[in-house]
Amino acid sequence: MQTVGFIGCGNMGSAIIYGISRSKAFQVAGYDHHPEKLQKLHEECGLLVCESEEELVKKSDILVIAVKPYAVEALVRRISSCLSSVKIVISIAAGIPAQTIKNAGCALPVCTVMPNTPAMVGEGCTALSFDDPMLTAEHKDVIKTIFAGVGYTVELSESKFPEFSALLGSGPAFVFYMLEAMLEAAIRLGFKYDEAKKMLEMLFAGSAKLAQHDFDVPHAKLRLNVCSPKGTTIAGMNSLDKNAVRGNIIEAVMATYDRYLEMMNTNK
Ligand SMILES: NC(=O)c1ccc[n+]([C@@H]2O[C@H](COP(=O)([O-])OP(=O)(O)OC[C@H]3O[C@@H](n4cnc5c(N)ncnc54)[C@H](OP(=O)(O)O)[C@@H]3O)[C@@H](O)[C@H]2O)c1
Repeated sequence: MQTVGFIGCGNMGSAIIYGISRSKAFQVAGYDHHPEKLQKLHEECGLLVCESEEELVKKSDILVIAVKPYAVEALVRRISSCLSSVKIVISIAAGIPAQTIKNAGCALPVCTVMPNTPAMVGEGCTALSFDDPMLTAEHKDVIKTIFAGVGYTVELSESKFPEFSALLGSGPAFVFYMLEAMLEAAIRLGFKYDEAKKMLEMLFAGSAKLAQHDFDVPHAKLRLNVCSPKGTTIAGMNSLDKNAVRGNIIEAVMATYDRYLEMMNTNK
């Protein structure tokens, strides 16, 4: 069984570790500055705990770099001399191209990946970049199997990662923002927090499932199905339009995209 080793077992690293361990197709190892994170992952999903970067790298067939973007280059420089057992390097660091990892001393095939937080419950949407010509068909199959454990995967050139990140990487924050707003409306309408939270989460999950089920039906049609002539919902829709909510949501995604490009260009 191949070992997938994680340097960095924080929010996103651990989300992917939970996903992979559910599939039982790989042994999973990890190293992090915080031993308590490793201990929890060991207890909950059998993570093989390593005591150092070097030990982790030496035990890994596939190495996943899951530290913050600013720490990636220095990390690769430190581990580049002990990568002999590793066959593929995967990086989930936002805004760090595969070429940067290679330039830092990694001569192996590098796949860059952009996950999102629903990966924690196996419902993520992950972009996989296979731009590196060193990645073989076999490497790609292994990478797809790893990330299928945390949800839906799409193959995407690294050049489209800023767009993907603005929509899908940051997307959960937009969805939670809308959930929060609906929750405040529920409280104004007299519902208790807990009951409103449960009902609204079901509303979002159920609506998404309906849209997936009726995939060829445009969202606008699904929305109009709820709007009876002279009815209540159309009055709410009209209020959203008067407040330019649609345009503001688009602006928010574009601001996220602009900031991603700025961070890529300035490294800040
Ligand atoms: N969260 C998201 O929604 C999301 C989405 C897409 C991509 N990503 C990418 O995922 C990566 C990780 O993000 P995150 O949210 O999981 O961050 P995080 O929760 O801070 O996790 C990173 C972990 O790695 C540890 N670490 C850093 N350098 C290390 C080293 N050399 N050896 C061992 N452990 C080390 C950190 O410890 P210290 O804090 O002590 O350094 C921390 O525990 C980032 O590059 C980010 O761009 C995240």
